[in-house]
Amino acid sequence: MSLTLGLETTCDETSAAVVADGVRVCSTVVRSQIELHARYGGVVPEIAARAHLEILNAVISRAMEEAGVTAEQLNGVGVANCPGLIGCLLVGVAAAKALAFAWEKPLVGVNHVHAHLYATRLQQGTDIDVRPPTDMWPALGLVISGGHTSMYWMDGFTQVRRIGATIDDAVGEAFDKVAQILQLGYPGGPLVEQLAQRGNPGAIQFPKSLLGRDSLDFSFSGLKTAVLYHVNGNKGIQHDASSLSPQELADVAASFQRAAADVLAAKCRRALDRQSAKSLLVGGGVSANKAIRSKLLDLGREMGLQVLLPAPEYCTDNAAMIAGLAAHELQLGHQHGLNLPVLATV
Ligand code: KG4
Ligand code: ZN
Repeated sequence: MSLTLGLETTCDETSAAVVADGVRVCSTVVRSQIELHARYGGVVPEIAARAHLEILNAVISRAMEEAGVTAEQLNGVGVANCPGLIGCLLVGVAAAKALAFAWEKPLVGVNHVHAHLYATRLQQGTDIDVRPPTDMWPALGLVISGGHTSMYWMDGFTQVRRIGATIDDAVGEAFDKVAQILQLGYPGGPLVEQLAQRGNPGAIQFPKSLLGRDSLDFSFSGLKTAVLYHVNGNKGIQHDASSLSPQELADVAASFQRAAADVLAAKCRRALDRQSAKSLLVGGGVSANKAIRSKLLDLGREMGLQVLLPAPEYCTDNAAMIAGLAAHELQLGHQHGLNLPVLATV
């Protein structure tokens, strides 16, 4: 059995995890900083970096303890070194370098967004099959999170080529902004989903932006603005969410969610019409959304390809996906030196 420690500090979650054989999650500790940033209405990079620094050591110790693993037993240390907030990345990468050096273990830097796609492989429990599903490549990858909405052609977890991305808001950002408009709180995705369960998704026809006929890029700012105008009026704030009935609010949430899901499925279909794939891999916080999961599963059934989704706990940012992808890289013989850089964008 091979054991990998993973660290994730790209944004506002401080996380450490131990993964066995690249697939079986032995422990995963995630400390969210939501409370620290809530009063500012978004993540403040310097506060996030400082908070990582303050709690990362305790998070790592906890992950090792929960897994019942000692440093000697580890086969490597993985860390997300891109993309993300530069100060936050520096904290995680400096810690990973120090541990790899002190423990004399290989160091592997991985791309956080690619790791979201790897999250489809993660499982819990001792009695699991760690072999990858046969015949899954080439695959279409879809990452839907608060910071990213991108599509990839994949010939493997380390052979990933981006073919489209959002030109404005990420879909998770749109969920968060709609939650703000509906006065639900932060982070908005799960709250919008909850409210949408009581609503009629056909109640309001919000615009679904597909951009040019051949475009594989995404745009969600028009949809977000349409929700804003619907709720607040389009000439400044004439009214707000408090003037809508509970049913009207639920209808807005459900109609928005349907429009977002339809756009994601339409873009996947467009990519798959262009080039065939054996599977569709989905990851990122928004892939926890049940309506979006079921829309993409329907697409897979219709187009005859398997759809691989992460377990709900591995959709949002976590270090298990980092440890898993790092283990996969190590198995391929890839590792980095102590000069591993951090990159805010890639
Ligand atoms: O992957 P993630 O944890 O962080 C980034 O890398 O951005 O994704 C966080 C995003 C947030 O925008 C959050 O509102 C959204 O994922 N999210 C959801 C759901 N759970 C989280 N969006 C829709 N439905 C959900 N159930
Ligand atoms: Zn993420």
